Amino acid sequence: MFRLRVLGQLLRASGAIRIAAVAASTFWLAGCGPVAGASVPGGDSAHGAKLIGHLGCGACHIIPGISQAEGLVGPPLDHFGRRMIIAGLLPNTPENLEAWLENPQAIVPGNAMPNMELKKDEARDIATYLYTLR
Ligand code: HEC
Repeated sequence: MFRLRVLGQLLRASGAIRIAAVAASTFWLAGCGPVAGASVPGGDSAHGAKLIGHLGCGACHIIPGISQAEGLVGPPLDHFGRRMIIAGLLPNTPENLEAWLENPQAIVPGNAMPNMELKKDEARDIATYLYTLR
């Protein structure tokens, strides 16, 4: 009886180790995947920063380098150039980021980020700035 219980504990422990190993390898794979946040051809990051300030993105997001961008409604955008996923859903590529900025409601209907009516070049410049946050 005692031995069985010990065996059960050992098995459970090895299960936990297996889960930890899978989690670790997933983490490792994610770390070695394609580097998120490539540069955006033709983008103007200084203009993007200005737009972020004017549009008030900082009411909802913490955004390094933007004055008073300390909002806590959405996720913080620090290290955005190194994040793998946008909105828990899309791979963090320039195309996906620009699509998100242009119309977040089309991607995750009902989420708290409003459509900000951005033009294509505005989304591109904002994306360029966000990718400078490494
Ligand atoms: C009213 C609040 C609000 C405003 C204003 C807002 N956002 Fe968001 N934003 C959110 C929320 C909430 C999410 C998370 C949505 C989700 O994951 O479904 C989000 C998600 C994001 C993401 C994806 C972040 C991640 O880690 O997945 C980016 C990038 C982003 N917002 C940039 C901006 C920019 C740039 C502006 C200004 C043009 C802006 N947001 C304005 C609320 C806001």
